[in-house]
Amino acid sequence: MKRALIPGTFDPITGGHLDVISRASQLVDEIVVGVAASPSKNPLFSLEERVALAREATAHLPNVEVLPFNCLLVDFAQDIDAQILIKGLRAITDFEYEFQMTALNYQINKAIETVFIMSPPEYMYLSSSIVREIASLHGDVSGFVPVCVKDALEAKFA
Ligand code: PNS
Repeated sequence: MKRALIPGTFDPITGGHLDVISRASQLVDEIVVGVAASPSKNPLFSLEERVALAREATAHLPNVEVLPFNCLLVDFAQDIDAQILIKGLRAITDFEYEFQMTALNYQINKAIETVFIMSPPEYMYLSSSIVREIASLHGDVSGFVPVCVKDALEAKFA
């Protein structure tokens, strides 16, 4: 039984995240989407809101579960018995940050392997922060996020 953890702040979950989650769900038996508390990032959505949105957005994927965490990523992976970390990689600009996190996570726990899934071109430019900015300026985010997130963003910035 292979269980993979896809971690992130998901503030909020986007179409790019969903693309990675859905492709990853074909590769392993079970996926846990780990929503990090990330208090230092001062998220727009509370942890509970981010978990609820991620659950609604992935409800159609039977082998995907969404859980919050507020500890070291590799400790959470070990707690839930995930042997693999899956991360999305967009442009080359993501690489240095991801390279550093992968190296440190590997140093802390060598039993957990990190695997990257490349974003397709249509999601290369997409990020939660850009989506938040567009929504804050009352732009249309419907092409970038699932309907539940669009509605939640509109309610936040009403
Ligand atoms: O979506 P993000 O904000 O880029 O995700 C970053 C995340 C949550 C994966 C990263 O901040 C993380 O792993 N946080 C948990 C705390 C931790 O383990 N930090 C050390 C990483 S080497």
